[in-house]
Amino acid sequence: MMRFAGKTALVTGALGGIGGAACRRLAAEGARLVLVDRPGLDAEPLLAALAGADAAPALFLPADITDEAAVADVCARAVAETGRLDVIVNVAGQMIYKPLEDLTMDDWQRLFAVNLFGAAQFIRQGLRLMGPGGAIVNVASIHAHQTSPLVAPYAAAKAGLVSLTRSAAIEGKEKGIRINAVLPGAVETQMLRDSPNIKSGAETIDPADIGTPDEIAAAIAFLAAEEASFITGSGLVVDGGRLTKL
Ligand SMILES: NC(=O)c1ccc[n+]([C@@H]2O[C@H](COP(=O)([O-])OP(=O)(O)OC[C@H]3O[C@@H](n4cnc5c(N)ncnc54)[C@H](O)[C@@H]3O)[C@@H](O)[C@H]2O)c1
Repeated sequence: MMRFAGKTALVTGALGGIGGAACRRLAAEGARLVLVDRPGLDAEPLLAALAGADAAPALFLPADITDEAAVADVCARAVAETGRLDVIVNVAGQMIYKPLEDLTMDDWQRLFAVNLFGAAQFIRQGLRLMGPGGAIVNVASIHAHQTSPLVAPYAAAKAGLVSLTRSAAIEGKEKGIRINAVLPGAVETQMLRDSPNIKSGAETIDPADIGTPDEIAAAIAFLAAEEASFITGSGLVVDGGRLTKL
């Protein structure tokens, strides 16, 4: 399938596990990629992997997504350098593990800035810059619905992101821009391997309930594609059925 031929797709958190898989999938289907991730990271391996795709060369625009001016700048540069902006995938995210008793205002602000406010700024720019047919996909988490100890700000921010997806869909509808969320379960990435909850046994995951970044990327691509034209404001759980069990 070449569902994104001639389109520009901007992916935040592009150098992470799920972000990288989303970039490879969208590029394989013809999109020109704009990769956004923190300054100082090495984008060369992903740029090299994307170079084999049919689309024009991908761009790496480093930015901290919690920096409002930087977000406006990368979106403007994406349009200036590729001539358009059709898809935004908000993948960048972070976790911290702390009991509520120890969580400072600074912790809460940092987690909300990365997991919610950054996406809000990309949505803002997307609503300004994208034309009809544009699509935004927010990567939330099943922590928006059910959660585990020590990750309260992450779970609350991801629940906020699902709510923001609904608000954005309402405002996007009149512009012909769709906004949806994917809520991944456990995904085989560095974020999962680093989890102290997994290491300590506070959270156990059946290996059958661990998905791959490519399986999340497939859902992202579906929601970003024109075939999902009647889907907006929705949250698609992609967790191998983990949340369905009592
Ligand atoms: N891995 C999982 O099991 C899982 C499950 C559910 C949801 N998610 C969500 O999926 C998304 C991607 O997670 P992943 O597993 O690929 O993690 P990852 O750590 O591999 O990737 C996250 C990326 O976001 C980038 N990032 C973080 N803060 C940033 C900032 N301020 N500015 C710019 N970039 C920033 C990081 O540099 C990194 O490349 C996250 O939003 C995460 O919450 C992951």
